Amino acid sequence: MKRILFILFVFNACIMASAQKIEPVKLNTPDKTRGTAIMKALSDRHSERNFSEKKLSLQDLSDLLWAACGINRPEKGMITAPSAMNRQDIDVYAVMEEGTYLYDPKLHELKPVAVGDLRHLIASGQDFVKKAPVSLLIVSELSRLGNADDEGTRLCGAMDGGIVSQNISLFCAGVGLATVPRVTMNKAELIKALNLSPTQLPIINHPVGYSKPAEDKTVFTFNVGQFKLNVLAEKMGAGNPKILIGATQELIQKHLPNGFQSQINAFLLQTPDKNILIDAGLGDGLLKNLKSLNVAPEQIDAVLLTHLHGDHIGGLLADGKKVFPSADLYIAKPEYDYWIKSDNKLAHNVLDVYKDRIKLFMPEALGSKKQNLFSGIQGIAAYGHTPGHTAYLIESGASRLLVWGDLTHVTAIQMPHPEIAVTYDSDAKQAVDSRRKILAFAAKNNIPVAGMHVASPAIGDIKADGAGYVFQPK
Ligand SMILES: Cc1cc2nc3c(=O)[nH]c(=O)nc-3n(C[C@H](O)[C@H](O)[C@H](O)COP(=O)(O)O)c2cc1C
Repeated sequence: MKRILFILFVFNACIMASAQKIEPVKLNTPDKTRGTAIMKALSDRHSERNFSEKKLSLQDLSDLLWAACGINRPEKGMITAPSAMNRQDIDVYAVMEEGTYLYDPKLHELKPVAVGDLRHLIASGQDFVKKAPVSLLIVSELSRLGNADDEGTRLCGAMDGGIVSQNISLFCAGVGLATVPRVTMNKAELIKALNLSPTQLPIINHPVGYSKPAEDKTVFTFNVGQFKLNVLAEKMGAGNPKILIGATQELIQKHLPNGFQSQINAFLLQTPDKNILIDAGLGDGLLKNLKSLNVAPEQIDAVLLTHLHGDHIGGLLADGKKVFPSADLYIAKPEYDYWIKSDNKLAHNVLDVYKDRIKLFMPEALGSKKQNLFSGIQGIAAYGHTPGHTAYLIESGASRLLVWGDLTHVTAIQMPHPEIAVTYDSDAKQAVDSRRKILAFAAKNNIPVAGMHVASPAIGDIKADGAGYVFQPK
């Protein structure tokens, strides 16, 4: 019996010891190509206090810490934040549920400091802080600057901390993370819990996380001149990289280290006199999204289809009947010719139910000026994904925007590598060719783009980058 009790004691002790241990976290190489342009980040920067509890991905955490005060000039050991006399007095602690870590810029690694959740000490009465998966605590080690009791030294420490704080705010604004700089915190308890020395001065902290409304939001509205373009997002789930043709494991690891979100978007274009849907998604949430914009199905005047795959036409029917009784259905002739001869049941049902309202048209070549559908709306040939796959160029005043359908399915990898096709392409070579041409056209003419499988908010700018492109979400 004694022996059994002893074994149980040792077993419990082992469990407790492992629960009380946290390991160093090796951070990912920072992705220095991500995020919006600096002027956009400045115009988006704001304090946000509504956090999702979802943990930050390792890439987001890695990039966040590097942006805060990581090494940007390795040959000289210099960092992203300037500091008085380059004394690099700021230490950044990452306070998370499992414990608190100290960021080591040289190793780009998190070193364990204290086990257990100390976020309540950062919150100190502001409960929203406890929801954020990580709070960065910015501490100045005053002894690196000079005499810790000297007012000038403390001012320099505070300024250096403020700069790191702004790096964090701008990074978050640039990549769509939520944060707020805060001086509120239980300093005395934090000093004890983190075993800070008398020369270490906690300056400011930043809860960081995904913003709650953005995560749940499925409707986003943008102006295109006189028009409004509303993104209506439907299904959002983890996608499968197996659909990518020609993507090596190395490329997948590089561009999709956290996998990718597979999303289905339809768009509602509102001109001064028409409600025009571009595609109808799967139908899983489309009507709810329209309702949130106070648009009833009867108020849709036209549906422009990019192609007839199920995740673009599913929302057109409910119980085998028209969902949009007043709408004309615009389909590119080559697309219609292909599906009418196919044995696809859903496509046939749609073509049959809407047969009195179908308007066939020939898409224009890229660069043509002819507006072949409505004033300010042009269908453009983007063949390959399907035989009549069509993009729509919207133009109002000096503003233009290209809704490009399924020109990309996994934007994060098909931008830098337009040559990567997907298993759903009916002619992969032609799809790659269309992608290259349209990307070059949109980048050269500074035309913002929107895609049916681009992650929320699904609209952005593209810029040429080496042999490929980068997508900068709006
Ligand atoms: C030095 C400093 C201390 C702050 N402390 C807090 C804080 O303790 N709690 C909080 O919710 N916000 C805090 N804020 C955020 C400000 O309230 C916020 O920046 C201000 O209202 C302006 O809003 P904006 O950041 O969206 O422009 C602080 C900001 C600064 C610069």
